[in-house]
Amino acid sequence: METNSISIFGLGYVGCVSIGCLAKNGHKVIGVDVVQHKVDLINNGKPTIIEKDIDTIIEEGHKAGRISATTDHIQAVKDTNVSIICVGTPSTGNGHLNLDYIYKTAQGIGEALKGKDSFHVIAIRSTVLLGTNEKVGRIIEEASGKKRNVDFAVVSNPEFLREGSAVKDYYNPAVTVIGSENEKALDIMADIYSKVDAPIERTDVRVAEIIKYVNNSFHALKITFANEVGNICKRMGIDSHKVMDLFCKDTHLNISPYYFKPGFAYGGSCLPKDLKALNTIAHDAYLNSPVLESIERSNQNQKRTAFELITSKGRKKVGILGLSFKKGTDDLRYSPIVEVTESLLGKGYEICIFDEKVNLSNITGTNKHYIETRIPHLSKLLKSDLQEVVESSEVLVISQNDERFRSLIDDYPDKIFIDLVRVVEEPRNVNYEGLGW
Ligand SMILES: NC(=O)c1ccc[n+]([C@@H]2O[C@H](COP(=O)([O-])OP(=O)(O)OC[C@H]3O[C@@H](n4cnc5c(N)ncnc54)[C@H](O)[C@@H]3O)[C@@H](O)[C@H]2O)c1
Repeated sequence: METNSISIFGLGYVGCVSIGCLAKNGHKVIGVDVVQHKVDLINNGKPTIIEKDIDTIIEEGHKAGRISATTDHIQAVKDTNVSIICVGTPSTGNGHLNLDYIYKTAQGIGEALKGKDSFHVIAIRSTVLLGTNEKVGRIIEEASGKKRNVDFAVVSNPEFLREGSAVKDYYNPAVTVIGSENEKALDIMADIYSKVDAPIERTDVRVAEIIKYVNNSFHALKITFANEVGNICKRMGIDSHKVMDLFCKDTHLNISPYYFKPGFAYGGSCLPKDLKALNTIAHDAYLNSPVLESIERSNQNQKRTAFELITSKGRKKVGILGLSFKKGTDDLRYSPIVEVTESLLGKGYEICIFDEKVNLSNITGTNKHYIETRIPHLSKLLKSDLQEVVESSEVLVISQNDERFRSLIDDYPDKIFIDLVRVVEEPRNVNYEGLGW
């Protein structure tokens, strides 16, 4: 691959770190900013920000002739084959992002591309809204008269660094995310980041656009969750740091990908009960725990979402594939699909159920009591023959990840399938719909 030369738009926090670190990795980089003072600083070998190690990195890159800066965006685009947008995206008064600087930069890049014949990559490094990649492409097409994905391509490339450890974060991100419809542009960006010590994840534009929001919302959730646990522990005379240290040692269920697949509500005899217990401890100690309190509400909402998805199909005959709260058990207590089934029965739907582990004559104790109060005539609805359930239903609701349910989706193209657990990645059946995908 030819060597890339890069123009960086915006010489603030992200732009300054990018310019220094890319130069340190051997790239020739031109910084562009509308503020003359920032351009002068870079041209004197000085950073525009205060951050550990950045002064020596900029000084060395400048001395080696790899770093320069300008206010002339037209020349900067002409002299490079990649432009990375790092301009600011401040909040508007009503909480939205103000993307004016992004669009202005796109306009400028488009004008510059008018007089350029070679392929150009525009990477959006700033934090932007969904759809910005598309809009930046449109602005550049209009301003340049060139064709997207032929003459130029736009890549979404979110930045994950944190101020205070920006240089370290730049070189050691968990992943480098690049999203584009254009493979050539992705190859060029992958080459630029080849010396960064992180796996390069090529993905869809919209996945790349939303990931930063999902990441940061989760980080905020982690902090507030830990703080609520801390408040409860303190009130109980328990050292919360000992608790959370132990919590983090469980890398099977706590700090792991487990439970991170969007899908149906949780249920069973433990999660609802133990969550309620912790909330009760907090409540009895007169503590507010809004995060912990809202978990159950969110879970109820997911059952409602499943119910509405089923009823939205406008068919009365519904087959439920899997009734217990998870595959391989006959425990029906607090199984979320039992609640959805109960609501469907209440609305007059004709229900047929298949669950090979649920045998009414073997169910005893609290499990028996629970199901008898929820679905009193279960014996009439439960069938031991899967085929019978499929054939007598118009809509089939898959609530357990079972190999046999998976093959039904392609075998019965005329049936409507509602998948609560994603038994298939890419179904061919056009009547298939997932709960959260
Ligand atoms: N600061 C962080 O820790 C951090 C981390 C990750 C992502 N981000 C995101 O990266 C983006 C940049 O953040 P920042 O902290 O570096 O912002 P910043 O405000 O420090 O810098 C933005 C720079 O862009 C310049 N600029 C504005 N319009 C321009 C234009 N038309 N052409 C050229 N330059 C222009 C400004 O003069 C300024 O120097 C934002 O979207 C931010 O949310 C920031």
